[in-house]
Amino acid sequence: MNKIGVGYALITDLEKKYVNMALDSGRLSPGPFVQKFEKKFAEMHKQKYGIACNSGTSSLHVALEALKEKYSWDQNSEVLVPAITFIATSNAVMHAGMKPVFVDVDSRTYNIDTKLIEEKITENTVAIMPVHTFGQPCEMDSIVKIATKYGLKIVEDCAEAHFAVYKGRPVASFSNIAGSSTYVAHTITTGIGGVITTDDTNLAEIARSLIAHGRACTCENCIAYNSKQVCKLRMQTEMDRRFMMIRLGYSYRIGELEGALGVAQLENKDFIINTRKANAKILTDGLKDVEQYLQLPYYPEYVEHSFMMYPLVIKDDKAFTRNEIVKYLEQNNIETRPMLPLLNQPIYKEIFGDIEKDYPVAQWINNNGFYVGCHHGLSKEELNMIIKTIHAFLENRIKDK
Ligand SMILES: Cc1ncc(COP(=O)(O)O)c(C=O)c1O
Repeated sequence: MNKIGVGYALITDLEKKYVNMALDSGRLSPGPFVQKFEKKFAEMHKQKYGIACNSGTSSLHVALEALKEKYSWDQNSEVLVPAITFIATSNAVMHAGMKPVFVDVDSRTYNIDTKLIEEKITENTVAIMPVHTFGQPCEMDSIVKIATKYGLKIVEDCAEAHFAVYKGRPVASFSNIAGSSTYVAHTITTGIGGVITTDDTNLAEIARSLIAHGRACTCENCIAYNSKQVCKLRMQTEMDRRFMMIRLGYSYRIGELEGALGVAQLENKDFIINTRKANAKILTDGLKDVEQYLQLPYYPEYVEHSFMMYPLVIKDDKAFTRNEIVKYLEQNNIETRPMLPLLNQPIYKEIFGDIEKDYPVAQWINNNGFYVGCHHGLSKEELNMIIKTIHAFLENRIKDK
C-alpha cells in the first residue's frame, strides 16, 4: 500500500502539454509561459503585478528588500513575524538585513495573535509579516488597523494559502507586497518556485530588477519576455539597459518549464482547491467525535481556508504524546509532519537564545501539533483510513488508561 502522504503534485495531460509546448518552443529562459503565469497568479489574488521567483523564500526576501530600498530602512529595522511559521519567513527578514521580532500565535487558528502585536512595536518596527498558516487567513482587519495606526507596512507570507479568502478578499491583497511558494507540496506547484505579488508599480520594478541581477531594465517586454522586439528606451543610455546593473541583485528567476507547469496548475485550480476543501470536511466530519482529544481546524465563517494541510493538536498531553500518535500513524502508512517548529530550531537557539518559553502557545503547538494530508490526490478510502487509524489509536490508548 502506498503511503498516505502530506503533499502531492497534480500532473494532468494539461501540465504535460504545456511543458512539451515550452520544450518545443526552444526557449527555456523566462518567456511567454512565465509571463502568463505571473499575470494570472497576480490577477487571481487581485493584484496588478506578479513576479515569479525560484522559491517562496526568495520571493519573501526580495519583497522585503524592495520595501527596504523604497522606504530607506536600515539594519536596525524590525519586522514582526509569528512564532509559528516555516523558518523561511523569519530567515527572509535576516537575509534582507533586518531583525525578526516574534509574536506568539493564537491557539485556535495558529496564526499571529493580533492582540499581542502592539506590545512588540518599538521605534524600529517597520513592518508586520502575517503568515496564513496551513491555508488559513490571518485576522487581516486587525492587522491592517494596527499597521495604519503605527505607519507600518505589511508583507503577507501566502506560501501556504494560495487563493484563501478573508471576508471576500483573497490573501495577498491586504499588504504592500506578498510572497508565495509554489514548492511541490503547496496548493499549486511549479516544482520549485514562488511568486511576489503587489499593486505598487515601484515595488514591482525594484523586485523585478532584484531577481535578475539588479538590471536597470525592468520592462517586462524587453527584460526577458520579448527580447526580439526593439525597445526604444533600451539604447538611450550609454549601455544597453538590459545589461546595466544598478543594484546588488540576485539570480532568482524561473524558466519556461516551471512557467508552463504553473499556467496548467492555475487552469486546474478550482479542482485543486475544491477537492482540498471537500477532503478537509471529510476529515473534520470523521474526527468530530474525538474532539475532546484532538483540536481540529477552527476557522470563522468569514474566511475560506485553502487547506494546504490538515493540522491537529493534542488537547491533553497527559492522555498520550504527540510522538506516540505520530509513530502509530507513520507505522500505519500515514505520513505526518510537525507543525512548523521555529524557535527551538538549533540555528535559532544559537542566534536568539532559549526564547521559546516566552511564547507559550507556539511552544504548546510545537510540542503537541502535527499535520496530515488533505490534498487533492487523496481518495475517499485514504481519507477514511486516516480517520479509522486515529480512532484505532485513541481506542487503544483510552482502553490502556
Ligand atoms: C509559511 C512559509 N513561508 C515560506 C516558505 C518557503 O518557501 P520555499 O520552500 O518555496 O522557499 C514556506 C515553505 O514551505 C512556508 O511554508
